[in-house]
Amino acid sequence: MNIIEKIQQTQNITREELEQILTTDDEVTVEALRQAARGVANAIYGNKIYIRGLIEISNYCKNDCLYCGLRRSNPFAVRYRLTDEQIYACCEEGYQLGFRTFVMQGGEDGWFDDKRMCRIVSTVRNRYPDCAITLSLGERSHESYQALYDAGANRYLLRHETASPEHYAKLHPAEMSWQHRMECLCDLKKIGYQVGCGFMVGSPYQTFDTLYADLQFIRKFRPQMVGIGPFISAHDTPFAGQPNGKVSYTLRLLAIIRLLQPPVLLPATTALGTLHPQGRELGIQYGANVLMPNLSPTEHRKDYAIYDGKICTGEESAQCKVCTEQRIRKIGYEMVVDRGDYKAEEFKC
Ligand code: 5AD
Ligand code: FES
Repeated sequence: MNIIEKIQQTQNITREELEQILTTDDEVTVEALRQAARGVANAIYGNKIYIRGLIEISNYCKNDCLYCGLRRSNPFAVRYRLTDEQIYACCEEGYQLGFRTFVMQGGEDGWFDDKRMCRIVSTVRNRYPDCAITLSLGERSHESYQALYDAGANRYLLRHETASPEHYAKLHPAEMSWQHRMECLCDLKKIGYQVGCGFMVGSPYQTFDTLYADLQFIRKFRPQMVGIGPFISAHDTPFAGQPNGKVSYTLRLLAIIRLLQPPVLLPATTALGTLHPQGRELGIQYGANVLMPNLSPTEHRKDYAIYDGKICTGEESAQCKVCTEQRIRKIGYEMVVDRGDYKAEEFKC
């Protein structure tokens, strides 16, 4: 049994196998990995790619993550927050374009307190009962997550960033804690959300050991979604001079994650598309099955500048949808109008 077959059969990987797969120059091994991952995705989701409409509701953030262009101590970030009406307009446009999942994403912005956010979620829930509502608003209290769930949210994306507490401490200021992030992820699971975790590939101080810990964390936590993309340095942050993450590592990790947890919902991220013109297509070919085109108002897109060079900042929502559909079709896949739920037994924390 070769290394790829072993990972597929055991749905596990050793620290040594991980390093070997990420660093190998052997194209036969990489192609076997890609085909195995795509085969597993095809067996569960066929050639269907789910789309999620991303609405970036605010780029204010109280946190100071060292890697992020929207960190609070970046005085050059041009801040905006959408009004309720602007958010509803994005949803309506998205619905008309065929989106059945809305992802409301933002920095940790106190303006979007529970009262405001619950009002927005319940309005969207009432208007579009057939849609999934995903939130990605960072760390909040258990009560807050519960209230938002009760208001009608179904899914929550909160990347764990790294499964190593020591590594976490090098990416974040002292007031942020790895422990608390883990508690948030568990709270979300317990409440009943479909949860997404994830990490950047090639973040500063990342090692094969921390990546191995990330994969083992995913195996244990069993998130319904895993978002990974390459680290891309952002100007005006402490990591401005750091090298970008590798596209090749990102693709191989996508494939490995698909093999470790076959039904996982796995987006080919905008960051991957930013570092390689065909990054998102390659992501799909390595086992990803989700794309998240942008539905944010065009006038604010350039300001949601988490990292440098982000694509899709000049396009209209309709353009992104057409572009996404064409890209998917060109490589032999099909874009579906569907909530795109996780296809396996739900798992509680
Ligand atoms: N490069 C790539 N991804 C980043 N993120 C934040 N900053 C960067 C960056 N410079 C990711 C983090 C965060 C998500 C919203 O975006 O993983 O959780
Ligand atoms: Fe936005 Fe291609 S997905 S322009």
